[in-house]
Amino acid sequence: MEKQKFYITTPIYYATDDPHVGHALATVCADAIARYHAQIGKDVYFLVGTDEYGSRVSLKAQSENKNPQEFVDGVAEKYQEIWKTLNISNTIFMRTTNPKHKEIVSEYINKVYEQGDIYKDEYAGYYCIGCEEFKKEKDLIEGHCGIHRPDQTVFQREENYFFKLTKYAPKVLELIEADEFEIIPKQKKSEIVSKLKLAIEKNDLGDLSVSRDNLEWGIRIPWDETHAIYVWFDALLNYYSALKIDNKFEEFWPADVHVVGKDISWFHSVIWLSMLLAGGEKLPKRLFVTSFFTIDGQKMSKSLGNVISPSDLISRYGVDGARYVLASSLPYLDDGDIGYSKFDERYRSELSNDLGNLVSRVSALCEQHGYIAKKDNNVEEFFGKVKGFYEDYKLHEVLREVNQVVTQLNTRITEEKVWEKKDGDFEEVVDDIVSGIRKVAFNLKPIIPATSQKIMSIFESEKKVTQSEVLFPRLDIK
Ligand code: MSP
Repeated sequence: MEKQKFYITTPIYYATDDPHVGHALATVCADAIARYHAQIGKDVYFLVGTDEYGSRVSLKAQSENKNPQEFVDGVAEKYQEIWKTLNISNTIFMRTTNPKHKEIVSEYINKVYEQGDIYKDEYAGYYCIGCEEFKKEKDLIEGHCGIHRPDQTVFQREENYFFKLTKYAPKVLELIEADEFEIIPKQKKSEIVSKLKLAIEKNDLGDLSVSRDNLEWGIRIPWDETHAIYVWFDALLNYYSALKIDNKFEEFWPADVHVVGKDISWFHSVIWLSMLLAGGEKLPKRLFVTSFFTIDGQKMSKSLGNVISPSDLISRYGVDGARYVLASSLPYLDDGDIGYSKFDERYRSELSNDLGNLVSRVSALCEQHGYIAKKDNNVEEFFGKVKGFYEDYKLHEVLREVNQVVTQLNTRITEEKVWEKKDGDFEEVVDDIVSGIRKVAFNLKPIIPATSQKIMSIFESEKKVTQSEVLFPRLDIK
């Protein structure tokens, strides 16, 4: 039988700065989802990458006195390195300055233009460079977007090309409402549906400007080279062009899920679907919208000096420790709060103490008894509830569930005083406990793959068990 396919994407991050914990969180969570689907036997295509055009990138390059291509090459390399270190299992690292991507985007926009869905008009209004988004005056807070620096919101009057978003929006609304394009969690779906409904009713949506005439750093509009294609039009199409470039389009299109933060859910629903409807392409099946987090109650920002980088996390907790604390902090429904004290606590209690201790004491006892792990065919299974949580991307719930099993195993060891047991009695309890540990390792594999592998090989069937090395060393914090 042909294997089922699964195509999953993260946002492609702006190639402006070094990766931070927000990018790592989304990427690690998407990776765990991708690995889960591979573990249940699917053929997985997992896209990550960088978004390399637009004003934001070009201004940043300028401020560092670099030419933009040289600048984005440097940033993209940093992203690639850190994802490799974090053991991200991506199939492709997509970059929008890839010449083939440019060709595909040009063809796509040209087709939409030729069928009459793009027209020229004057644009007069606000643009936030930080959001790379045209803003309505009514949405501004004291003259700016409310998220980025006030001077990033600028007034523009220029000739632009407009895409007929209003033509496709009613169909998009219908598709989202009917869950043909499913947005989860449901609360995030409701937010988008009500915003879109209201905009359609009030005739307030407007068409989307898809070009900028004052921007050099961008893919050119094919029929009018003085204009650059709006960066979001180019960026969203990366999910499509990547498969074409990789000759995997027939196999994997459309995407099973795009994982995105709530800041960009509008682009990935209303705008992306309209673009695909206009191009006559099949639509992605799901959008997984995550919430945002603050750090110890504050917004993460360079000026506050509270930016956490993925490499900070790795040096403190190791690769799997970092992956674990990130996956367990996924802000699923509401905005969350993270920070070292919360991470430390999780690492100490759930990893060093509970899981680490379980593996270390059981493997030590096994070694003392010359215990050989028995053949066990039932360990490669997801616990029923865990499977459901992975399917719904509730990684924090996966961990809660698996931790309960770890706690039960630890309690059993203590209550039954396993260290006092001998021969047959020892074997009987330990067979059960070892089988439990192997199941735990299997269930955690998408989140902490290397450690799970280690645990599985310590307790490999029909082999003598030897004492494990320390899996999660004590935190060494001054
Ligand atoms: N380049 C666009 C995406 C284009 S996709 C076709 C972009 N890039 S970004 O670098 O700003 O990354 C945004 C994403 O980073 C968010 O959607 C979210 O997944 C992640 N996060 C950034 N800060 C975050 C938090 N404070 N909390 C949680 N996730 C965060 O937008």
